[in-house]
Amino acid sequence: MERIFSGVQPTGNLHLGNYLGAIRNWVRLQSQFECLYCVVDLHAITVPQDPLELRANTREVTAGLLAAGIDPTNNIIFNQSQVSGHSELAWIFNCVARLGWLNRMTQFKEKAGKRRDNATVGLYAYPNLMAADILLYQATHVPVGDDQKQHLELTRDIAQAFNSMFGVDFFPEPEPVIMDDAARVMSLRNGASKMSKSDESDYSRINLTDDGDTIALKIQKARTDPDPLPYSAEGLEGRSEAENLIGIYAALSDTSIAETCDEFGGENFSKFKSRLTEVAIARLVPIGEEMRRLAGDVSYIDSVLSEGAERARHLANPVLNEVKRIVGLL
Ligand code: AMP
Ligand code: TRP
Repeated sequence: MERIFSGVQPTGNLHLGNYLGAIRNWVRLQSQFECLYCVVDLHAITVPQDPLELRANTREVTAGLLAAGIDPTNNIIFNQSQVSGHSELAWIFNCVARLGWLNRMTQFKEKAGKRRDNATVGLYAYPNLMAADILLYQATHVPVGDDQKQHLELTRDIAQAFNSMFGVDFFPEPEPVIMDDAARVMSLRNGASKMSKSDESDYSRINLTDDGDTIALKIQKARTDPDPLPYSAEGLEGRSEAENLIGIYAALSDTSIAETCDEFGGENFSKFKSRLTEVAIARLVPIGEEMRRLAGDVSYIDSVLSEGAERARHLANPVLNEVKRIVGLL
């Protein structure tokens, strides 16, 4: 059976990049696969977290997934720390993965920076926990962005190494599901940097909780260049801001960049921006409103997470028991 597992960090301030780069794809996949979507709070604590904020962000991200249209009855939505099997299997993988493999992980190098000795052991072992997330459910497919491909490769190496260490054919090697189109949404103020929650300027991003007026203002102020829109995608070469806005329009209206250039070629940005604003408002405002409604219903969010965790445990326990048997743990 084909099973999807994916994880999202509980960082606050979900924005258009998170939506087009990740959440929207999760929404689509739910009709084709059995899906488990996990808010990875144990991954979050590999770097310092404020406890109150961590709890709030876990709920906010959950609300974002629900508001975007993921159905918690047909899929399993839960937070990682409620299913102890993730930590247990991660420990076993700590005893399978090699230092040399983890030393190659570029995300650790980036996140640890120059003060590597000061990074937590958890940050270093992060990819083993991610492998445990996926393999605990014997997931076959994992939707991930570019930055996580190396971790998924490592997951496949760990699955293989476990199988060969114990002479079993137990863990499948999960396949990446490549995200399409607007996989990278850029800042509205600078076409060379990614839209990010950590950008100082709130005008650089559209937050999922922005209201219609705010979205309109941010699009109106978005940086462009003086030329009219090109007639074809080739004409976007070297025009990163135009490319970004056209990419966003295409993704939000479920068309392609080529069709968008066809539609707006030769027009000036002001006309295009007003269409983009309409499309963005139609698509995003209902999500923002639902997120705000859900923010006022903490007990509902918590019940989704605990019911999800219950169902996740049900799938995880037999796998974990079998792993323990294979390893020789009584
Ligand atoms: P982050 O909040 O950076 O941990 O990202 C959470 C998810 O959203 C990941 O799957 C990222 O790949 C995706 N994501 C974040 N920022 C962007 C962006 N600017 N464009 C596309 N995807 C993004
Ligand atoms: N490491 C991923 C990120 O930072 C989140 C994640 C944790 C994940 N466990 C996962 C993604 C398992 C896919 C599958 O975005």
